[in-house]
Amino acid sequence: MPHHPAIARDRVAVITGAASGIGLAAAYRLAAAGMRIVLADISAEALAAAGKAIAASGATIRTVTADVSVREDVARVKAEADALGPVSLVMNNAAREGSGGILSGIDRWQATMDVNFWGVLHGVQLFAPDMIAADWPCAIVNTGSKQGITLPPGDTAYNVSKAAVKALTESLAHDLLATEGRVTAHLLIPGFTYTGFTRARGVSEKPAGAWTAEQVVDFMLPALAAGDFYILCPDNDVPRETDEKRIAWAAADIIENRPALSRWHPDYAAAFADYMKG
Ligand SMILES: NC(=O)c1ccc[n+]([C@@H]2O[C@H](COP(=O)([O-])OP(=O)(O)OC[C@H]3O[C@@H](n4cnc5c(N)ncnc54)[C@H](O)[C@@H]3O)[C@@H](O)[C@H]2O)c1
Repeated sequence: MPHHPAIARDRVAVITGAASGIGLAAAYRLAAAGMRIVLADISAEALAAAGKAIAASGATIRTVTADVSVREDVARVKAEADALGPVSLVMNNAAREGSGGILSGIDRWQATMDVNFWGVLHGVQLFAPDMIAADWPCAIVNTGSKQGITLPPGDTAYNVSKAAVKALTESLAHDLLATEGRVTAHLLIPGFTYTGFTRARGVSEKPAGAWTAEQVVDFMLPALAAGDFYILCPDNDVPRETDEKRIAWAAADIIENRPALSRWHPDYAAAFADYMKG
């Protein structure tokens, strides 16, 4: 399979949130492509186990225990990566769920934004300048969420953090046009995926509707190779067509002057159901 040119033998890939789920699956695939991998995660124990497992496959790896919300920690990750070789791929992927409704405690909001948004911004600000100055192909992949696009009621703090990641990554991609395609940015938008997130909700077996983390990465790699910015993953319940309709409906709230989040507004329940059937 042809890869994005940033995915190349002996180049360095940096992955945050690499001890579990999508980050870990990406680490395996990128190591198999011959990359050297820096795995960063806040969970030292899970990180050590992940590092050991990937190293056993013969890959060159470094593990760095780091909290992405702490800029100095991300700077340490960068120092390790630079010591390992030419960095060509950064996946700003670490995140937490917030359980933060509008009126939940400010600590919850702060923690969610610190990790999910500021963690990504630290990664972008610390890695992008050297990528822009380098003379080899590079890519930055930020993990967003459909919740940052359609904003389902519930975990508003998470939605806001992922909406911010979307806005940041879109602007980053635009700014990187100055590199004439040598450095690219991408927004990975997983569907429902069975990972540590799902397990933290007490689900101990993969729900039928969920994809595995490996499926997400196997979907992401050809999309990166094709140069896609929006890497919109389906899952076993939600095909791309359904996502397209939901996203179009959300955007049309403004155009049609409907109430906010009309998809979940009782007065629009029938109209939305008809639209989805149509
Ligand atoms: N699982 C899903 O259904 C789903 C859907 C959409 C988006 N996502 C996104 O995918 C990404 C990966 O999550 P996942 O589903 O693989 O979950 P996961 O829990 O399996 O992996 C997340 C990893 O991030 C680490 N982490 C959390 N806070 C951190 C911090 N402050 N610093 C460093 N590492 C930290 C965790 O220890 C964990 O290893 C996240 O950005 C998440 O928002 C997941």
